[in-house]
Amino acid sequence: MRILLIGFGAVGQGLTQILRDQADYLREREGFEARIVGVATRSRGTLYHPGGFDLDALLDVAGDGRFDRFPQLDGLLRDQDIFDLIRMADADVLVEVSHSNLQTAQPALDYCRAALDSGKHVVMANKGPVALAYDDLMNHAQRVGKQVGFEATVMAGTPSLRLGMDALAGCRIESARGILNGTTNYILTQMEVGMAYSDALEQAQALGYAEADPTADVDGWDAASKVVILAAALFGQRLSLDSMPVAGISSLTLADIEAARAAGERWKLIGTATPDGARVEPVRLPANHPLAQVSGATNAITYTTDLLGDVTLVGPGAGPVATGFGLLADLLAIHRT
Ligand SMILES: NC(=O)c1ccc[n+]([C@@H]2O[C@H](COP(=O)([O-])OP(=O)(O)OC[C@H]3O[C@@H](n4cnc5c(N)ncnc54)[C@H](OP(=O)(O)O)[C@@H]3O)[C@@H](O)[C@H]2O)c1
Repeated sequence: MRILLIGFGAVGQGLTQILRDQADYLREREGFEARIVGVATRSRGTLYHPGGFDLDALLDVAGDGRFDRFPQLDGLLRDQDIFDLIRMADADVLVEVSHSNLQTAQPALDYCRAALDSGKHVVMANKGPVALAYDDLMNHAQRVGKQVGFEATVMAGTPSLRLGMDALAGCRIESARGILNGTTNYILTQMEVGMAYSDALEQAQALGYAEADPTADVDGWDAASKVVILAAALFGQRLSLDSMPVAGISSLTLADIEAARAAGERWKLIGTATPDGARVEPVRLPANHPLAQVSGATNAITYTTDLLGDVTLVGPGAGPVATGFGLLADLLAIHRT
Protein backbone atom coordinates (compact mmCIF):
# COMPACT_ATOMS: atom_id res chain seq x y z
CA MET A 1 0.00 0.00 0.00
CA ARG A 2 1.44 3.35 -1.06
CA ILE A 3 0.69 6.16 1.38
CA LEU A 4 0.70 9.93 0.97
CA LEU A 5 0.84 11.69 4.34
CA ILE A 6 -0.57 15.19 4.73
CA GLY A 7 0.74 16.47 8.08
CA PHE A 8 3.89 15.18 9.67
CA GLY A 9 3.50 16.24 13.30
CA ALA A 10 3.04 14.01 16.31
CA VAL A 11 0.49 11.68 14.69
CA GLY A 12 2.10 11.48 11.24
CA GLN A 13 5.37 10.56 12.92
CA GLY A 14 3.58 8.10 15.24
CA LEU A 15 2.15 6.24 12.23
CA THR A 16 5.56 6.28 10.54
CA GLN A 17 7.18 4.74 13.63
CA ILE A 18 4.53 2.01 13.73
CA LEU A 19 5.04 1.21 10.03
CA ARG A 20 8.79 1.03 10.63
CA ASP A 21 8.71 -0.98 13.86
CA GLN A 22 5.87 -3.39 13.00
CA ALA A 23 6.80 -3.93 9.34
CA ASP A 24 7.80 -7.59 9.72
CA TYR A 25 4.87 -8.42 11.97
CA LEU A 26 2.36 -6.75 9.63
CA ARG A 27 3.84 -8.52 6.59
CA GLU A 28 3.81 -11.95 8.25
CA ARG A 29 0.46 -11.65 9.97
CA GLU A 30 -1.59 -9.56 7.53
CA GLY A 31 0.36 -9.68 4.27
CA PHE A 32 0.43 -5.91 4.65
CA GLU A 33 3.31 -3.88 3.28
CA ALA A 34 3.23 -0.10 3.38
CA ARG A 35 5.44 2.47 1.71
CA ILE A 36 5.24 6.18 2.39
CA VAL A 37 5.69 7.79 -1.02
CA GLY A 38 4.92 11.40 -0.12
CA VAL A 39 4.81 13.76 2.85
CA ALA A 40 3.49 17.32 3.06
CA THR A 41 3.26 19.87 5.85
CA ARG A 42 2.26 23.52 6.06
CA SER A 43 5.73 24.97 6.68
CA ARG A 44 8.29 22.29 5.85
CA GLY A 45 7.38 21.76 2.21
CA THR A 46 6.74 18.43 0.52
CA LEU A 47 8.71 15.32 -0.43
CA TYR A 48 7.62 12.79 -3.05
CA HIS A 49 9.34 9.67 -4.28
CA PRO A 50 7.29 7.01 -6.10
CA GLY A 51 9.56 4.26 -4.81
CA GLY A 52 8.88 5.15 -1.17
CA PHE A 53 11.08 6.55 1.56
CA ASP A 54 13.40 5.04 4.09
CA LEU A 55 11.34 5.63 7.24
CA ASP A 56 14.35 6.26 9.49
CA ALA A 57 15.53 8.98 7.13
CA LEU A 58 12.07 10.52 7.10
CA LEU A 59 11.78 10.51 10.90
CA ASP A 60 15.29 11.90 11.12
CA VAL A 61 14.33 15.10 9.27
CA ALA A 62 10.94 15.37 10.97
CA GLY A 63 12.10 17.23 14.00
CA ASP A 64 14.03 20.13 12.59
CA GLY A 65 12.41 22.61 10.29
CA ARG A 66 12.06 22.11 6.54
CA PHE A 67 12.63 18.93 4.59
CA ASP A 68 15.71 20.53 2.94
CA ARG A 69 18.00 18.25 4.87
CA PHE A 70 16.44 15.11 3.34
CA PRO A 71 19.14 13.41 1.21
CA GLN A 72 18.77 13.87 -2.57
CA LEU A 73 17.61 10.72 -4.40
CA ASP A 74 17.01 10.01 -8.08
CA GLY A 75 13.38 10.80 -8.80
CA LEU A 76 12.80 12.80 -5.60
CA LEU A 77 10.47 15.79 -6.02
CA ARG A 78 10.44 18.56 -3.42
CA ASP A 79 8.26 21.52 -2.52
CA GLN A 80 5.28 20.90 -4.77
CA ASP A 81 1.94 22.58 -4.32
CA ILE A 82 0.03 20.23 -1.95
CA PHE A 83 -2.98 19.89 -4.26
CA ASP A 84 -0.70 19.11 -7.23
CA LEU A 85 1.06 16.51 -5.11
CA ILE A 86 -2.23 14.89 -4.08
CA ARG A 87 -3.45 14.72 -7.70
CA MET A 88 -0.24 13.44 -9.29
CA ALA A 89 1.08 11.11 -6.58
CA ASP A 90 1.07 7.42 -7.40
CA ALA A 91 -0.47 6.47 -4.04
CA ASP A 92 -3.31 4.22 -2.86
CA VAL A 93 -4.28 6.16 0.26
CA LEU A 94 -4.15 9.74 1.50
CA VAL A 95 -3.56 9.82 5.25
CA GLU A 96 -4.84 13.21 6.44
CA VAL A 97 -3.25 14.22 9.74
CA SER A 98 -3.03 17.96 9.41
CA HIS A 99 -4.50 20.46 11.87
CA SER A 100 -8.22 19.94 12.80
CA ASN A 101 -10.16 23.03 11.75
CA LEU A 102 -13.55 22.76 13.46
CA GLN A 103 -14.89 25.97 11.86
CA THR A 104 -14.50 25.15 8.15
CA ALA A 105 -12.67 21.76 8.01
CA GLN A 106 -10.37 23.39 5.44
CA PRO A 107 -8.00 22.89 3.77
CA ALA A 108 -8.21 19.24 4.86
CA LEU A 109 -11.67 18.73 3.37
CA ASP A 110 -10.44 19.84 -0.05
CA TYR A 111 -7.35 17.62 0.33
CA CYS A 112 -9.71 14.67 0.93
CA ARG A 113 -11.87 15.59 -2.07
CA ALA A 114 -8.81 15.91 -4.32
CA ALA A 115 -7.57 12.52 -3.13
CA LEU A 116 -10.91 10.80 -3.82
CA ASP A 117 -11.12 12.45 -7.24
CA SER A 118 -7.68 11.15 -8.10
CA GLY A 119 -8.55 7.57 -7.12
CA LYS A 120 -7.18 7.40 -3.58
CA HIS A 121 -8.78 6.11 -0.40
CA VAL A 122 -8.73 8.54 2.53
CA VAL A 123 -7.87 7.76 6.15
CA MET A 124 -7.78 10.52 8.72
CA ALA A 125 -7.27 11.50 12.35
CA ASN A 126 -8.33 15.05 11.48
CA LYS A 127 -11.79 15.59 12.99
CA GLY A 128 -12.77 18.60 10.87
CA PRO A 129 -13.83 16.93 7.61
CA VAL A 130 -15.80 14.13 9.32
CA ALA A 131 -17.49 16.39 11.88
CA LEU A 132 -18.44 19.09 9.36
CA ALA A 133 -18.94 17.22 6.08
CA TYR A 134 -19.75 13.58 6.86
CA ASP A 135 -22.39 13.07 4.13
CA ASP A 136 -20.43 15.00 1.57
CA LEU A 137 -17.35 12.82 2.11
CA MET A 138 -19.17 9.48 2.31
CA ASN A 139 -21.26 10.20 -0.81
CA HIS A 140 -18.18 11.38 -2.65
CA ALA A 141 -16.29 8.21 -1.68
CA GLN A 142 -19.20 6.02 -2.77
CA ARG A 143 -19.42 7.82 -6.12
CA VAL A 144 -15.77 7.15 -6.89
CA GLY A 145 -15.67 3.65 -5.32
CA LYS A 146 -13.17 4.51 -2.57
CA GLN A 147 -13.21 4.21 1.23
CA VAL A 148 -12.96 6.84 3.94
CA GLY A 149 -11.57 5.70 7.32
CA PHE A 150 -11.91 7.85 10.42
CA GLU A 151 -11.45 5.52 13.42
CA ALA A 152 -8.68 7.72 14.84
CA THR A 153 -10.96 10.77 15.12
CA VAL A 154 -12.76 9.43 18.22
CA MET A 155 -10.67 7.97 21.09
CA ALA A 156 -7.58 7.72 18.86
CA GLY A 157 -6.72 4.04 18.33
CA THR A 158 -9.17 2.67 20.92
CA PRO A 159 -11.72 1.17 18.51
CA SER A 160 -14.75 3.15 19.65
CA LEU A 161 -16.26 3.62 16.19
CA ARG A 162 -15.57 0.06 15.03
CA LEU A 163 -17.21 -1.24 18.20
CA GLY A 164 -20.38 0.74 17.52
CA MET A 165 -20.48 0.45 13.73
CA ASP A 166 -19.24 -3.12 13.21
CA ALA A 167 -19.04 -5.24 16.35
CA LEU A 168 -22.44 -4.08 17.66
CA ALA A 169 -24.16 -4.06 14.25
CA GLY A 170 -27.43 -5.96 14.71
CA CYS A 171 -28.04 -4.49 18.16
CA ARG A 172 -30.13 -1.38 18.41
CA ILE A 173 -27.87 1.21 19.98
CA GLU A 174 -29.95 3.44 22.22
CA SER A 175 -27.13 5.76 23.20
CA ALA A 176 -23.38 6.26 23.13
CA ARG A 177 -22.05 8.11 26.18
CA GLY A 178 -18.39 8.76 26.65
CA ILE A 179 -15.45 10.47 28.23
CA LEU A 180 -14.11 11.68 24.91
CA ASN A 181 -11.54 14.25 26.01
CA GLY A 182 -8.51 13.20 28.06
CA THR A 183 -7.45 16.69 29.12
CA THR A 184 -10.68 17.44 30.96
CA ASN A 185 -10.78 14.01 32.58
CA TYR A 186 -7.22 14.55 33.77
CA ILE A 187 -8.14 17.95 35.25
CA LEU A 188 -11.21 16.53 37.01
CA THR A 189 -9.15 13.66 38.41
CA GLN A 190 -6.55 16.09 39.80
CA MET A 191 -9.28 18.25 41.32
CA GLU A 192 -10.51 15.18 43.20
CA VAL A 193 -7.19 15.10 45.06
CA GLY A 194 -7.60 18.77 45.98
CA MET A 195 -5.81 20.59 43.15
CA ALA A 196 -7.43 23.86 42.03
CA TYR A 197 -8.79 23.96 38.47
CA SER A 198 -6.15 26.42 37.24
CA ASP A 199 -3.26 24.37 38.72
CA ALA A 200 -4.64 21.16 37.24
CA LEU A 201 -4.95 22.84 33.84
CA GLU A 202 -1.37 24.11 34.08
CA GLN A 203 -0.19 20.59 34.94
CA ALA A 204 -2.14 19.15 31.98
CA GLN A 205 -0.39 21.67 29.73
CA ALA A 206 3.03 20.82 31.19
CA LEU A 207 2.38 17.12 30.52
CA GLY A 208 1.40 17.86 26.91
CA TYR A 209 -2.26 16.81 27.36
CA ALA A 210 -3.65 20.33 26.87
CA GLU A 211 -2.82 22.82 24.13
CA ALA A 212 -1.37 26.25 24.94
CA ASP A 213 -4.89 27.50 24.14
CA PRO A 214 -6.98 24.94 26.04
CA THR A 215 -10.39 26.37 25.06
CA ALA A 216 -11.38 23.53 22.72
CA ASP A 217 -10.75 21.01 25.48
CA VAL A 218 -12.07 22.72 28.62
CA ASP A 219 -15.11 24.32 26.98
CA GLY A 220 -16.22 20.99 25.53
CA TRP A 221 -15.73 21.67 21.79
CA ASP A 222 -13.25 18.85 21.20
CA ALA A 223 -15.64 16.38 22.86
CA ALA A 224 -18.52 17.90 20.90
CA SER A 225 -16.75 17.32 17.57
CA LYS A 226 -16.43 13.63 18.50
CA VAL A 227 -20.10 13.46 19.51
CA VAL A 228 -21.05 14.91 16.12
CA ILE A 229 -18.98 12.16 14.45
CA LEU A 230 -20.58 9.44 16.62
CA ALA A 231 -24.07 10.80 15.92
CA ALA A 232 -23.41 10.79 12.17
CA ALA A 233 -21.76 7.37 12.03
CA LEU A 234 -24.12 5.55 14.41
CA PHE A 235 -27.44 7.30 14.03
CA GLY A 236 -27.27 9.06 10.66
CA GLN A 237 -27.80 12.40 12.41
CA ARG A 238 -26.59 15.58 10.78
CA LEU A 239 -25.58 17.81 13.68
CA SER A 240 -23.40 20.86 13.79
CA LEU A 241 -21.36 22.05 16.73
CA ASP A 242 -23.66 25.01 17.27
CA SER A 243 -26.85 22.96 16.99
CA MET A 244 -26.31 21.02 20.23
CA PRO A 245 -25.91 21.97 23.89
CA VAL A 246 -22.20 22.10 24.79
CA ALA A 247 -20.83 22.91 28.24
CA GLY A 248 -17.30 22.40 29.54
CA ILE A 249 -15.71 22.06 32.94
CA SER A 250 -14.23 25.52 33.52
CA SER A 251 -16.97 26.57 35.94
CA LEU A 252 -16.59 23.51 38.21
CA THR A 253 -15.06 24.35 41.59
CA LEU A 254 -13.38 22.24 44.25
CA ALA A 255 -16.60 22.67 46.28
CA ASP A 256 -18.60 21.04 43.44
CA ILE A 257 -16.12 18.15 43.30
CA GLU A 258 -16.29 17.71 47.08
CA ALA A 259 -20.11 17.82 47.15
CA ALA A 260 -20.23 15.03 44.56
CA ARG A 261 -17.66 12.98 46.47
CA ALA A 262 -19.68 13.30 49.68
CA ALA A 263 -22.71 11.93 47.80
CA GLY A 264 -20.72 8.96 46.42
CA GLU A 265 -20.51 10.53 42.94
CA ARG A 266 -17.86 11.83 40.54
CA TRP A 267 -18.03 14.64 37.97
CA LYS A 268 -17.26 13.60 34.40
CA LEU A 269 -17.47 15.55 31.15
CA ILE A 270 -19.83 13.31 29.20
CA GLY A 271 -20.56 13.44 25.48
CA THR A 272 -23.85 11.77 24.59
CA ALA A 273 -25.27 10.80 21.21
CA THR A 274 -28.70 9.18 20.82
CA PRO A 275 -31.00 8.74 17.82
CA ASP A 276 -32.80 11.89 19.00
CA GLY A 277 -29.99 14.32 19.76
CA ALA A 278 -26.63 14.95 21.31
CA ARG A 279 -24.98 17.01 24.02
CA VAL A 280 -21.78 17.55 25.98
CA GLU A 281 -22.00 18.48 29.65
CA PRO A 282 -20.43 17.81 33.03
CA VAL A 283 -22.45 15.09 34.78
CA ARG A 284 -22.39 13.66 38.32
CA LEU A 285 -22.19 9.88 37.97
CA PRO A 286 -22.51 7.31 40.79
CA ALA A 287 -18.97 6.23 41.72
CA ASN A 288 -19.72 2.63 40.65
CA HIS A 289 -20.76 3.63 37.10
CA PRO A 290 -18.18 2.27 34.60
CA LEU A 291 -17.48 5.78 33.26
CA ALA A 292 -17.02 7.18 36.78
CA GLN A 293 -14.15 4.75 37.33
CA VAL A 294 -12.09 6.10 34.44
CA SER A 295 -9.33 8.37 35.76
CA GLY A 296 -6.58 10.52 34.33
CA ALA A 297 -6.27 11.17 30.60
CA THR A 298 -7.94 7.86 29.68
CA ASN A 299 -11.09 7.86 27.52
CA ALA A 300 -14.11 5.55 27.61
CA ILE A 301 -17.41 4.97 25.86
CA THR A 302 -20.53 3.11 26.98
CA TYR A 303 -22.93 1.86 24.34
CA THR A 304 -26.42 1.10 25.65
CA THR A 305 -27.96 -1.57 23.43
CA ASP A 306 -31.16 -3.60 23.29
CA LEU A 307 -29.55 -7.06 23.08
CA LEU A 308 -26.43 -6.69 25.26
CA GLY A 309 -27.35 -3.94 27.68
CA ASP A 310 -24.36 -1.70 28.39
CA VAL A 311 -21.00 -2.34 26.72
CA THR A 312 -18.10 -0.14 27.87
CA LEU A 313 -14.75 0.31 26.14
CA VAL A 314 -11.87 2.02 27.97
CA GLY A 315 -8.56 3.09 26.45
CA PRO A 316 -6.21 5.85 25.39
CA GLY A 317 -7.83 8.77 23.54
CA ALA A 318 -4.70 10.56 22.35
CA GLY A 319 -0.99 10.23 21.76
CA PRO A 320 1.12 9.77 18.63
CA VAL A 321 1.28 5.97 18.70
CA ALA A 322 -2.29 5.44 19.97
CA THR A 323 -3.61 7.69 17.21
CA GLY A 324 -1.22 6.21 14.65
CA PHE A 325 -2.68 2.84 15.55
CA GLY A 326 -6.20 4.12 14.75
CA LEU A 327 -4.94 5.06 11.29
CA LEU A 328 -3.28 1.65 10.91
CA ALA A 329 -6.59 -0.08 11.77
CA ASP A 330 -8.26 1.77 8.87
CA LEU A 331 -5.35 1.03 6.53
CA LEU A 332 -5.60 -2.67 7.38
CA ALA A 333 -9.36 -2.60 6.81
CA ILE A 334 -8.77 -1.17 3.33
CA HIS A 335 -6.00 -3.72 2.70
CA ARG A 336 -8.34 -6.59 3.65
CA THR A 337 -11.00 -5.49 1.17
N1 LIG B 1 -2.28 14.19 18.84
C1 LIG B 1 -3.27 13.36 19.15
O1 LIG B 1 -3.21 12.65 20.15
C2 LIG B 1 -4.49 13.27 18.26
C3 LIG B 1 -5.51 12.36 18.58
C4 LIG B 1 -6.62 12.24 17.70
C5 LIG B 1 -6.70 13.06 16.58
N2 LIG B 1 -5.69 13.96 16.35
C6 LIG B 1 -5.79 14.80 15.15
O2 LIG B 1 -4.74 14.40 14.26
C7 LIG B 1 -4.27 15.55 13.53
C8 LIG B 1 -2.77 15.69 13.72
O3 LIG B 1 -2.49 15.89 15.08
P1 LIG B 1 -1.00 16.13 15.58
O4 LIG B 1 -1.02 15.97 17.06
O5 LIG B 1 -0.07 15.32 14.75
O6 LIG B 1 -0.80 17.69 15.23
P2 LIG B 1 0.60 18.46 15.05
O7 LIG B 1 1.68 17.77 15.80
O8 LIG B 1 0.26 19.88 15.34
O9 LIG B 1 0.90 18.29 13.49
C9 LIG B 1 0.08 18.84 12.51
C10 LIG B 1 0.75 18.69 11.18
O10 LIG B 1 -0.14 19.20 10.19
C11 LIG B 1 0.58 20.09 9.35
N3 LIG B 1 -0.35 21.08 8.82
C12 LIG B 1 -1.03 22.04 9.48
N4 LIG B 1 -1.77 22.76 8.62
C13 LIG B 1 -1.55 22.23 7.39
C14 LIG B 1 -2.01 22.54 6.11
N5 LIG B 1 -2.85 23.56 5.89
N6 LIG B 1 -1.58 21.78 5.07
C15 LIG B 1 -0.72 20.76 5.27
N7 LIG B 1 -0.24 20.42 6.47
C16 LIG B 1 -0.66 21.15 7.52
C17 LIG B 1 1.61 20.71 10.25
O11 LIG B 1 2.62 21.28 9.44
P3 LIG B 1 3.90 22.06 10.07
O12 LIG B 1 4.69 21.00 10.75
O13 LIG B 1 4.58 22.61 8.89
O14 LIG B 1 3.30 23.07 11.00
C18 LIG B 1 2.06 19.49 11.04
O15 LIG B 1 2.99 18.75 10.31
C19 LIG B 1 -5.07 16.75 14.06
O16 LIG B 1 -6.13 16.98 13.18
C20 LIG B 1 -5.57 16.28 15.41
O17 LIG B 1 -6.79 16.90 15.78
C21 LIG B 1 -4.60 14.08 17.14
